[in-house]
Amino acid sequence: MQSVQLNNNVLRDGHQSLAATRMRTEQMLPICEQLDNWGFGALETWGGATIDSGLRFLDEFPFDRLDALKKACPKTPHMMLLRGQNIVQYKHFPDDVVTAFIKTSADHGMNIFRIFDALNDPRNMKCAIDAAKAAGAQAHGTICYTSSPVHTTAKFIGMGVELEKMGADAIVLKDMAGLIPPSDAYAIIDGLKKKLKIPVWIHTHDTAGLGTNTYVSAIDAGVDAIDLSISPFANGTGQPDTTRMLAILQGHERCPDVSDAQRAALREIRTHLEAVYEEMSEFTSHQNEVIDVDTLEYQVPGGMLSNFRTQLKEQKMEDKFDDVFREIPIVREALGWIPLVTPTSQIVGMQAFLNVKFGRWKQISPQAADIALGYYGQCPAEVDPEVQALAAKQAKKEPITCRPVEAPGAEHQHMDDLRKELKAKNFPSDDEHCVIHAMFPPQLEKHLKGEGPKPKPVAVPAATPQVAPAAQTSPGGPSRKYGLTINGKRIEVGVEEID
Ligand code: CO
Repeated sequence: MQSVQLNNNVLRDGHQSLAATRMRTEQMLPICEQLDNWGFGALETWGGATIDSGLRFLDEFPFDRLDALKKACPKTPHMMLLRGQNIVQYKHFPDDVVTAFIKTSADHGMNIFRIFDALNDPRNMKCAIDAAKAAGAQAHGTICYTSSPVHTTAKFIGMGVELEKMGADAIVLKDMAGLIPPSDAYAIIDGLKKKLKIPVWIHTHDTAGLGTNTYVSAIDAGVDAIDLSISPFANGTGQPDTTRMLAILQGHERCPDVSDAQRAALREIRTHLEAVYEEMSEFTSHQNEVIDVDTLEYQVPGGMLSNFRTQLKEQKMEDKFDDVFREIPIVREALGWIPLVTPTSQIVGMQAFLNVKFGRWKQISPQAADIALGYYGQCPAEVDPEVQALAAKQAKKEPITCRPVEAPGAEHQHMDDLRKELKAKNFPSDDEHCVIHAMFPPQLEKHLKGEGPKPKPVAVPAATPQVAPAAQTSPGGPSRKYGLTINGKRIEVGVEEID
């Protein structure tokens, strides 16, 4: 029996889930050597919300962090989370920008691209998979787990088969909300292992307290690798802690052999991270640390719950909490049972809020309309035709069935356009700057002009208002606000990035 591979996600998902993605490179570097020497199969060091957050709040140019972490962890493969055609943003980018981002990241040492699409539409993953392979890196085809009447075990397995055919080097079952019951994890992993030749990995969160049991079931079903983190950036809304998981696996035939030196290294890493967690206290919250049974009740990611509680209070609508949460499955069903992951978690949350505030489908956000009309890709099930017709009317757009990035009339900035813009401003115009400029133009400009946020040398300060108009303080830590203007009035709902 081959022991299960352990990955470590503390440098990406660990602090994204438990500390609003605010860990700074200099807070990471002291543990890099130990992480690199420990024997993890892969280290997740980049991607997801870290690129946005690093630039927006910490004044870090994203490729500088990748270079620093790669230099500090030269032995273990580096892994990043990539939102398919969205790269690490909320909207679709043209193929040449997606390809350039991946090629450049691979040139800087990124080894594994974990590629997903919020709608589980493989057409939005194909370009990224091809680009990763062309760059000599690994492309991991990722299936977003969600529960709905249309998400059957057979459907998830079918998607794994399709991604293998597209050339994926491994399949990842990604449970971003920590909602997968161990029995489902077993059934899906078992099916994937029987159908596929490539390795199958699993990623979950301990939000609802299911994470470790889910991993044991996945390991029993033959999963090749699991994602862990290190306390205090572990458990709760993060991945299970490594030491904890090892104790649970003790005596299991697939438990890796771990030496006393490795256990001691984990203790030392933990000691450092405890001090970092203290420094980051303004971004951490008790709510993220404890088991959140409500997520099981409402079947939504924990980050959506904590933010909505704050937002509804701000809007003097706290009595509407249950109404908004009862509205989420109604919105999901109308939009073809889309999974809740960045950016669909934000879009569905906002639409549920609008339905409660203004009446069902009286105001459809432009983003929800785009989902209904096919501009994000093919939804897992049919979109409610009435909602689609209302969306077409409100958004003054026709439904499409082609790959979204090829939608007629879509305007894209290609690499040449991006380079011209940077040159015109006398900024560096290499591919690194072009791809970041494509996604975060105002943040990059502030950074290049030296007008970015100025974090204090040790503790991580709050973002200053002129740098981050989207920042706000909530019990769940400052989150991005997701806003739109209706009848001249700005409505904002803060939702954590869920990935
Ligand atoms: Co995650």
